[in-house]
Amino acid sequence: MHPHTLTPADSNGWLNRWLETTADLARLQYAHPMVDAVIDEIDGRMIRIGDRWLADFASCNYLGLDLDREVIDAVPAYLDRWGTHPSWSRLLGSPILYEEIEQRLATLLGAEDAMVLPTITHIHNSVIPALAGEGTIYLDQRAHKTIFDGCAVARSHGATVLRYPYEDFDALEALLRRRPTIGPRIICSDGLNSMTGNAPDLGRMARLAAEYDALLYVDDAHGFGVIGERTADELCDYGSRGNSIVRHLGGSYDNLVLVGGFSKAYSSLLAFLALPTQLKQALKTAAAPYLYSGPSPIASLATTWEGMNVNDRRGDELRLELHRLTHRVLDALAELGVHTPNTSGYPIIEIPLAHAEQIDEVGQHLFDRGIYVTMAAYPLVPRDEVGFRVQLTAANTDAEVTQLITVLGEVADRFQLQPAIRDERRAA
Ligand SMILES: Cc1ncc(COP(=O)(O)O)c(C=O)c1O
Repeated sequence: MHPHTLTPADSNGWLNRWLETTADLARLQYAHPMVDAVIDEIDGRMIRIGDRWLADFASCNYLGLDLDREVIDAVPAYLDRWGTHPSWSRLLGSPILYEEIEQRLATLLGAEDAMVLPTITHIHNSVIPALAGEGTIYLDQRAHKTIFDGCAVARSHGATVLRYPYEDFDALEALLRRRPTIGPRIICSDGLNSMTGNAPDLGRMARLAAEYDALLYVDDAHGFGVIGERTADELCDYGSRGNSIVRHLGGSYDNLVLVGGFSKAYSSLLAFLALPTQLKQALKTAAAPYLYSGPSPIASLATTWEGMNVNDRRGDELRLELHRLTHRVLDALAELGVHTPNTSGYPIIEIPLAHAEQIDEVGQHLFDRGIYVTMAAYPLVPRDEVGFRVQLTAANTDAEVTQLITVLGEVADRFQLQPAIRDERRAA
């Protein structure tokens, strides 16, 4: 069915507007082999679609734990002990694995406490409205769609949502100065941004939050497991232990709720909030999924726990490899004189096209040459950033990265990419 036949014409204003907004994605979904693909088989980070093998640079399994023998081999023992799935909601009862994961996670993050639910989407949709009440939410315009959806739920319960331009903290401050008369104030933002690959100035945001009596709510889905505390003996500038953006930037959890997930770096269906114990206790009944949603499967609790074991023992080595592969790609782009918004050196590299309308052709070329990436169509990125996104994982091989670099050169030759801006900077 074509998306525009989803409902009778004009029967639903917001839906028609949304269908219009997502028209480019819908077109690719119907026409492009690199969108909505069926993966027939994997072999490491190589994937087979039909009779074609491609190197996968669309995976978020940053640490490669999805393929880690130690993690895979550990799972059956958990299933023998607990069965496949606890189908109590968490408020009814949770296998002790949950307690253990929450305690260990709080220690890793250096937070007072932690609370886990199956996905970040569950968390945003329930926790943002609970925190905001009838107060005001200050929303980074490029925050992830799931944060927007959580804010929409909050608005339907009486909150006011004010957007500020991406990382424009002067604009944020101007909005904060306009004090509303009632309710809490929450600043919602991504941590490591899922498209630019950059981290916000958390220090500045925290100062604004403190000055204007607001709570900072930060989604570091992509940073957790990748970036961590800075130490004198760190192996690379991603820092140590992968304990997320607050520790990486030397911030504090005062007045800050950190959200993250295990579904990317840890390859497990589980997500978390780092928060004070008192708030955790309140959210057990105030945030619906703790009672009304099913829990994560045992296999995901198992891979979370075993992933944390791997993280303790050799996570920094995996991050060093991730850093090395990422910098091979960033160096190649710099040599080609091609622009990427990534100034951080983190493993999310978006490559905008000079001409957005070439997205189908560029994607087809990448596909034909055995490279699988995320097509960054509007509204995943602003219209002037339409292109494709490359993500690295520690499980990618040098041969795959070499092929990627060759094909990026071909794309730069055959199509127009945006030229590098002279003073683009990134960490070494
Ligand atoms: C920044 C960000 N937040 C939230 C999500 C959604 O996470 P989950 O699958 O745990 O709901 C994603 C997933 O792609 C994301 O990139």
